[in-house]
Amino acid sequence: MELVFNDTVKAGTAEIYNKLKKSIPDLEWPVLAPYIFEINKIKKKNDFVILAHNYQTPDIFYGIADVVGDSLGLAIKGSKVKEKNILMCGVHFMAETAKIMSPEKKVYLPDMKAGCSLAESITAEDIRKLKKKYPNVPVVTYVNTSADVKSETDICCTSANAVKVVESLGVDEVIFLPDEYLAKYVSLNTNVKIISWKGKCEVHEKFSKKDVLEIKSRYKDLEVVSHPECPPDVIAASDFTGSTGSMINHVKNTKAKNIFLVTECSMSDNVQIENPNINFVKPCNLCPHMKKIELPKILDCLKNYNNEIKIDQDIAKNAKKAISRMIEVGR
Ligand code: 13P
Ligand code: SF4
Repeated sequence: MELVFNDTVKAGTAEIYNKLKKSIPDLEWPVLAPYIFEINKIKKKNDFVILAHNYQTPDIFYGIADVVGDSLGLAIKGSKVKEKNILMCGVHFMAETAKIMSPEKKVYLPDMKAGCSLAESITAEDIRKLKKKYPNVPVVTYVNTSADVKSETDICCTSANAVKVVESLGVDEVIFLPDEYLAKYVSLNTNVKIISWKGKCEVHEKFSKKDVLEIKSRYKDLEVVSHPECPPDVIAASDFTGSTGSMINHVKNTKAKNIFLVTECSMSDNVQIENPNINFVKPCNLCPHMKKIELPKILDCLKNYNNEIKIDQDIAKNAKKAISRMIEVGR
């Protein structure tokens, strides 16, 4: 079926366009709108809920998503939805987390190649070796990991609750995987000794203290708000550090006129729409994995039930224990 930008589509997407018109070029809207219209129609008909991470582009974030949030928010809210099918606009580990939390539901990812450099930095075998090397030391794993890795883990965490999770264990030492920079951030905020791994986020590791200082020198009234996957010297030069969800909340309550969000690029576009009076300084980096999720692939997934996430039952059962334990600790 050919998708056209006719009067029905125009009227059916007018409210969304009103919200997005400052962030989407005029010429692009007639191409995007028919997809948005069709996706919103089909998701209801085929009993889908669409979850979208804060790094998705505004057409997805505001145009078609039912639930948006950071990794922790998506894990919690995704486990409570009523629809039979979940479509994840995010990366593979997020779709796996949704499947692990709702094994009775079907979970789909529009592009199975949407990975994550952190998830790819460690295997379940690496964890088994670490557990032999450090017997009786609990393993805390960032959710940015595969289901296999989570199944070898005592408890998961996200950037929203990493310190709280580590402290909830009541021990002197933990193995904290796989993000070296997040591990460093946690170690600066707790007395618990952290044994870390060498994984890095390919997006956040590109930011440097030099970038931050250069931008600070250009603006008088500027706040630097960074993600804990950034290098330690970038975090030290920031005014606030937190998960993508905490960054968004911080921005809502700040009085700063200019903000440098040191994180993935699309988040600034999304936050700008809700905060039109703030100037977002944007020397930001794109996550190539998050950007694999596009409207035509989403529509294909909803129509044809493509790319279903499958996880071995025993692996999923163990991984669920680690995620549920994290959810009990909360934000
Ligand atoms: P949040 O948990 O802060 O949303 O981060 C997820 C992520 O992939 C950051 O790069
Ligand atoms: Fe992974 Fe970094 Fe992309 Fe987040 S931004 S999904 S941590 S590669």
